[in-house]
Amino acid sequence: MAILVTGGTGYIGSHTVVALIEAGQEVVIVDNLSNSKIEVVKRIEQITGVLPRFYQIDLLEKEQMRKVFQSESIDAVIHFAGLKAVGESVTMPLKYFRNNLDSTLTLLELMEEYHVNHFVFSSSATVYGKPKRVPIAEEFPIGEVSNPYGRTKYFIEKMIQDYCLGNPHFNACILRYFNPLGAHQSGLIGEEPDGIPNNLMPYITQVAIGKLSHLKVFGNDYQTPDGTGVRDYIHVLDLANGHVLALKKIQSNPGLVIYNLGTGKGYSVFDIIKTFEAVNKVKIPYTINPRRPGDIDECYADTTKAKKELDFVAMYTLEDMCRDSWNFQKTNFKITDSSHDAK
Ligand code: NAD
Ligand code: UD1
Repeated sequence: MAILVTGGTGYIGSHTVVALIEAGQEVVIVDNLSNSKIEVVKRIEQITGVLPRFYQIDLLEKEQMRKVFQSESIDAVIHFAGLKAVGESVTMPLKYFRNNLDSTLTLLELMEEYHVNHFVFSSSATVYGKPKRVPIAEEFPIGEVSNPYGRTKYFIEKMIQDYCLGNPHFNACILRYFNPLGAHQSGLIGEEPDGIPNNLMPYITQVAIGKLSHLKVFGNDYQTPDGTGVRDYIHVLDLANGHVLALKKIQSNPGLVIYNLGTGKGYSVFDIIKTFEAVNKVKIPYTINPRRPGDIDECYADTTKAKKELDFVAMYTLEDMCRDSWNFQKTNFKITDSSHDAK
């Protein structure tokens, strides 16, 4: 029996595919390559020694997806595929609603048709909006989200919840990720944003490599110890491991379960700059800029439930995340063709 991983050539998906293969699972990837490269499949093979089966399919194409369910013996689905650029979602909300909602609906319908009853979904801490306090626990209210991307996560969570109520055989695990950083230590897979990055770490690594002149720190007047925004940064390898544990959990047929995946620790923008500089011995010039609309002061996870019920504990430190992000940036020459393979 195989695990179908949608979005499996993307940033978090590719690391999870590696973790699944290393845990002895058979993996089938579906991705339309709208935000990733085919080369990643070979890189997964380089790391694990196993070439996962890959289908270049858009999840919105139901008939093509049906063929995957027909030809593969699928036991569970881990659903990463989705669009994730917050800014773009504000200017193109319909594109986000169509892609993220429709793809999930198609998948759930096919799972019902083919009696596949185990599902793991990539949600985000963004569903909590501006929390009343930190750390943020799973039972905190959700839905007060500031952008269409976040709203798709909220709507999909509700879609899954309703489906679980209607189908008592269905088991779903919703994972709310905090802020993923880092890359596989081989430097073969990692995050490769198109254009100017929106998120903090890809911006920092591009400053470090000289592609961008300096970091713009968005605000130093937040209610935090040093005035800059505080987030719960988690190594992508810890996240990947969280999915292996989530899969194990849903195979015990628990119905619907929801977990935060974070470290439980908050770090400020200045903490990240200082740690990155110290670990990698590179300077990150920065300026203080106005706050970015929609940003909150602090956000970090209460990890109690994931620890108790999933046995999930993040192992990697902020130093590891800074080192591995930089290593990927340095060794990564745009994953476009095999002539760039790091041998
Ligand atoms: P990513 O863009 O690197 O990976 C997503 C993959 O999905 C890409 O390879 C893309 O080509 C594919 N995809 C998109 N639409 C598709 C479609 N219709 N059919 C087939 N494939 C499609 O993103 P990521 O950072 O790996 O994120 C994975 C998931 O986790 C996403 O759902 C994202 O919203 C969620 N998430 C990410 C973060 C983060 O900071 N990276 C935080 C919280 C939640
Ligand atoms: C952002 C998204 C969130 C999404 C998450 C993961 C927004 C408002 N929120 O979260 O919905 O789930 O990414 O993809 O876009 N910062 C700078 N300078 C920069 C970039 C960031 O100072 O150039 C600061 C931010 O103000 C924040 C911190 O760094 O305090 C982290 O920012 P980022 O990496 O974009 O993540 P989030 O804002 O937490």
